[in-house]
Amino acid sequence: MNSNKLKDSTVLVTGGAGFVGSYIVEKLLPFEPAKIFIIDNMIRGSHRNMEHFINHSLVEFYEDDIRNGQLMDDLMSQSDYCFHLAALRINRCAENQPEAFDVMVKATFDLIELARKHQIKKLIYSSTASVYGLSQHFPTPETDNSYDNKTFYGAAKVFGESILRSYHDMHGLNYVALRYFNIYGPRMDTEGKYTEVMIKWLDCIRDDRAPLIFGDGSTSMDFVYVEDVADANIAALLNDVTDEVFNIGCQVETSLKELLELLLKINDSDLQPEHRPENTVNPVSRRLADISKAKEMLNFEPKVSLEEGLKQLSKWYLELHKEKTEHF
Ligand SMILES: NC(=O)c1ccc[n+]([C@@H]2O[C@H](COP(=O)([O-])OP(=O)(O)OC[C@H]3O[C@@H](n4cnc5c(N)ncnc54)[C@H](O)[C@@H]3O)[C@@H](O)[C@H]2O)c1
Repeated sequence: MNSNKLKDSTVLVTGGAGFVGSYIVEKLLPFEPAKIFIIDNMIRGSHRNMEHFINHSLVEFYEDDIRNGQLMDDLMSQSDYCFHLAALRINRCAENQPEAFDVMVKATFDLIELARKHQIKKLIYSSTASVYGLSQHFPTPETDNSYDNKTFYGAAKVFGESILRSYHDMHGLNYVALRYFNIYGPRMDTEGKYTEVMIKWLDCIRDDRAPLIFGDGSTSMDFVYVEDVADANIAALLNDVTDEVFNIGCQVETSLKELLELLLKINDSDLQPEHRPENTVNPVSRRLADISKAKEMLNFEPKVSLEEGLKQLSKWYLELHKEKTEHF
């Protein structure tokens, strides 16, 4: 691992005002790059996410769209490295496929083509466990195929990964793709339409309302703390590894029922959950990453336990949202 690679280099972070991207920017600064460009159209990103670095002399923020080809060409022409995170959420992709195509597929292709044109030294691509659909094996290795994925979002991420492979093969473009499992932590989405279940449960804890579990609560996820994900991104850039894809999770399977129990315990709550029938068809009932490849090749080691991470999340969220929310 060469930790001097970043010194005096220029780094472009797409989606840098978002949840994961803002932590990556924070972790880049101590390496003393010459410049960090952030491009984010703020459909989900926020100035609050960037409060620790927005006024930093090394950071240049562009409130703009990755579909702005002229600007992307200009930023890429000045960059050594790129972290590509800008993306739509899974539900939004399902709701508006033409938009999803433009952002997730077309703009990602254009970005990869610019990376080739301007000979970017390395591109780190944010992919997802959604590419697997319901995996064939648990823990799931990177070699499980993506045939079960039925989502536009997952399909678009497979496209990005595959085009990067082909560009490595045809043009020698260096890249690493990271398949994140279920990321959580301070700055995760709390307002939007797609708020995660743990935020809804934190609202219940604050308001002293019974948290709802839809279905039997056996659906499982592999939760990974946001700072561990940001560290994985930095390691993917610094290590001399290229043309590889890595699972980024904790290799710990947690059911929704267990998640709620832990959240209640951490917040000293004795609320009893209410069970309701499953209201949506959940195509993926299990998630558990095999992270041995990332451990071996990136020295990736998740540092934050679910209990510790949920404490951080609870503290941040309950401080920010002290007021009760109205429920009708
Ligand atoms: N959060 C997770 O659990 C998770 C899991 C798997 C993969 N991922 C992937 O990780 C990456 C980061 O996710 P996140 O949770 O930080 O999401 P996020 O929504 O917080 O961040 C994405 C950022 O991209 C910006 N953006 C969206 N479309 C844009 C466009 N056209 N032009 C410019 N900016 C645009 C948004 O405003 C947002 O700030 C994404 O690629 C996502 O698909 C996230």
